[in-house]
Amino acid sequence: MDASILNYSVNDNVAKFLSQTKKLYINGDWVDSKAGKTFEVEDPATGKKIATCSAGAEEDINLAVTAARKAFDSNRWGSIPPNERGKIVWKIGDLIDEHTEELAQLESLDNGKPVAIAGAADVALSSDIFRYMAGWATKIEGETIPISVPYTPEAQYHSYTLREPVGVVGQIIPWNFPLLMAAWKLSVALTAGCTIVLKPAEQTPLSALRLTEIINDAGILPEGVLNVVTGLGEEAGAPLAAHPHVDKVAFTGSTEVGKLITQAAAGNLKKVSLELGGKSPTIIFPDADVDAAIAGAASAIFFNHGQCCCAGSRLMAHEKIFDKVAEGISKIASNIKVGPGMDTSTEMGPLVSNEQFQKVSGYIESGKSDGGEILAGGKYDNSEGGHFVHPTVFAKTNADMSIVKEEIFGPVLCAQPFSDQDLDKIAEAANNTNYGLAASVWSKDISTAHKLAGKIRAGTVWINCHNIFDASLPFGGYKESGWGREMGHEVLHAYTELKAVTVNL
Ligand code: NAI
Ligand code: MG
Repeated sequence: MDASILNYSVNDNVAKFLSQTKKLYINGDWVDSKAGKTFEVEDPATGKKIATCSAGAEEDINLAVTAARKAFDSNRWGSIPPNERGKIVWKIGDLIDEHTEELAQLESLDNGKPVAIAGAADVALSSDIFRYMAGWATKIEGETIPISVPYTPEAQYHSYTLREPVGVVGQIIPWNFPLLMAAWKLSVALTAGCTIVLKPAEQTPLSALRLTEIINDAGILPEGVLNVVTGLGEEAGAPLAAHPHVDKVAFTGSTEVGKLITQAAAGNLKKVSLELGGKSPTIIFPDADVDAAIAGAASAIFFNHGQCCCAGSRLMAHEKIFDKVAEGISKIASNIKVGPGMDTSTEMGPLVSNEQFQKVSGYIESGKSDGGEILAGGKYDNSEGGHFVHPTVFAKTNADMSIVKEEIFGPVLCAQPFSDQDLDKIAEAANNTNYGLAASVWSKDISTAHKLAGKIRAGTVWINCHNIFDASLPFGGYKESGWGREMGHEVLHAYTELKAVTVNL
């Protein structure tokens, strides 16, 4: 482990964890990748190496899929009664809570987010979804259906449906909420009775690996039910998405790779769910509680350094209040303390990687050269190895600029006033994007707010709030923001097949 990490006092388990080369988890064993290749994981606040992980590739994916297939086909997981399965899923939630400090520290070191936020949001939401899902294990039900069958008028039938686990699932997750994305995906798959091959993001594999260690040490899952293969997207993710013995692939990440996943999945027509990018509007009406809207819109874009698929990256504020709103958000932006996530006074950490730093700083420059006016931030600094970008607010933006059209995935807000009274026109501007993940509407007029919520083409609309997540709320996108929903009972449909059984009485 690099000495610089010891500048922060870390939990003993974190120190021990980082000192060992991380292995792949296949069929209940920790193993090296077949080719013996590794990759390095860095602390984005310093650019220094903090861990070494095994780089899985096709042959490792094959072994992991074989293990998951065997565990599924032999009914090793499915034969456990639903109430017992539910208890195991619940137990994982409890184990996460018991390890809050170390998981939060790993998340902060690996991703860059402030350690207190990692504990209060990422870890807390992760344990919560396991417990939410645990309750569903005993409630995955079919229906009885009265049928008529015109060509057999004499016969009587009893028809019912069964919801069965979809099978072996490949789960490919991103780096912005590494533990939480693992939790969203693992909790439902285990609850539904599926077996799993999880591929964490190469930038941030640590918390998912530590969670896997914790689960393994607790001895609560039969072997082969959960397999974790770390590695690069093209080397480990692509063969998982294409694998003929995988029944479903669930992906969260870029829209670009989401499209590749659908092509890879076409080989065996495996089921696909995708949670992709966004360019979500924050729409503020003149009758809103403007102070609350300013704070909410700032948090909508700056939370997690703007590295949220549902970040409120397009601010639409009515012209009557635009200056006040833009000024208020800019003031908040200028006061946010940027620094290493492990420093407890930090409010915004570094971006996750040099790649993201280059991408986001490139957008800041493109915004400037396209005529955007910087009201706050616009600065970025990697001179000491960390990937720091200051919270940035652009005014004088328009729908043709790339900073308004494209997902930046950084702390960069594009502000535009609107003058329309007509909700259809406002909705048209809000919907003027290829994405459709989320939006927030700020108004005290309930008719305005609800009517506009109905007109917005997005999977989530928040009214007088933004970034409110709960395990029971379905989350996902319209248009190029994806296919299907995560969370809530809706996600169970993505992890089950429906079988109709008809008995001739
Ligand atoms: P990405 O989509 O390449 O990575 C997400 C996951 O997909 C990672 O586990 C990666 O290893 C895997 N992957 C990459 N290529 C693959 C392939 N060909 N087949 C299968 N799996 C593959 O995202 P990346 O490159 O890290 O970030 C690029 C942009 O994507 C960001 O700037 C942001 O705009 C967007 N993004 C959106 C996220 C979301 O939550 N919707 C999360 C992360 C990134
Ligand atoms: Mg990529």
